[in-house]
Amino acid sequence: MQYIDSDRVDLRSDTITQPTPGMREAMSEAIVGDDVLGDDPTVIELQNRLASMFNKEAALFVPSGTMSNAIAIKAQTSPGDEIITERNSHIYVYEGGGYAALSGCSIALVPSQNGIMNPVEVEKSIRKREGSLGHYPNGTLVCVENTSNRGGGTFYPQGNLDSICEVAKNSDCSSHLDGARIFNAAVASGTHLDRMVRDFDSVSVCLSKGLGAPVGSVLLSSSERIGAAHRWRKMFGGGMRQAGIIAAAGIYAIENHMDRLVEDHNHAKALAESIGRMPNFNVDMDSVSTNMVYVQSDEITSNDLLEGLSERGIDVLTIDESTIRLVTHLHITQGDVNRVIACFESLS
Ligand SMILES: Cc1ncc(COP(=O)(O)O)c(C=O)c1O
Repeated sequence: MQYIDSDRVDLRSDTITQPTPGMREAMSEAIVGDDVLGDDPTVIELQNRLASMFNKEAALFVPSGTMSNAIAIKAQTSPGDEIITERNSHIYVYEGGGYAALSGCSIALVPSQNGIMNPVEVEKSIRKREGSLGHYPNGTLVCVENTSNRGGGTFYPQGNLDSICEVAKNSDCSSHLDGARIFNAAVASGTHLDRMVRDFDSVSVCLSKGLGAPVGSVLLSSSERIGAAHRWRKMFGGGMRQAGIIAAAGIYAIENHMDRLVEDHNHAKALAESIGRMPNFNVDMDSVSTNMVYVQSDEITSNDLLEGLSERGIDVLTIDESTIRLVTHLHITQGDVNRVIACFESLS
């Protein structure tokens, strides 16, 4: 789907995609209302469609994945509580410490294998006020990220998700799934979305990552929790008026861009296999499961690599001094993949 007027190959993130012509048409034709007053039919349709796809009672359209996670934390904790999540999770690393500033929570960090937490480690990380002579904070919310961004785009085995939810429930904690890339996880694992999230109390999904919508995330949960979330969205300033314009892009994305995610995964695998075979670069193939490739090098610093690739028309992001990240998405073609491999070869 090459229609972007640029000769650069942008692999910085799957968030850089531009609305396709079909998506723009759907947006321009959207029937809108005032969603703060609750009468935007396109927002209502998007929320209902997603609630039904995920088999949750209710849904709330919000501007971003960060706000969706923040509202989920706010709605399911009290100040002084602790949330439990993976060591390099987006909630911990990339959301400005919102769990602390907005919800007054501390955080317990769980170790992982390529971003995938083991239920036993989760259980060990849950601290409870009760029985601690008042020493511990109260762990009340377990957050899981699927796919795991910093884990390399890895997805959880279903048994693992089920066990983590069971651990949470047995410890009197709620469970939240940060499913910014849950559609990638579903396509790669072959697991139905509703089955994947069955035992989670809340789920955040992003329309603006692999699905290619310009903006928007949706929080899914029980009607009661979404009622509370609706109030927090108001207080966080996330109420949008004629939001049907962007909800229409989300509806178009779930209808047209879900099945094609397999192409992104194939492109990532092809990049990983070729780059990983080159002498100067290492790729952990175990982590390459969806649309991300982390490339490590002991010979070339990530800044030099970023610059060398940039001079050749390829854009990537650095993760640390020896690692860069490539993310495939709906603008990346097989031709782009071949070009990127050739550029790495010229730098190897
Ligand atoms: C795993 C994960 N969660 C949440 C987010 C936040 O999404 P947003 O950028 O829409 O705030 C991202 C963004 O990349 C992400 O990768």
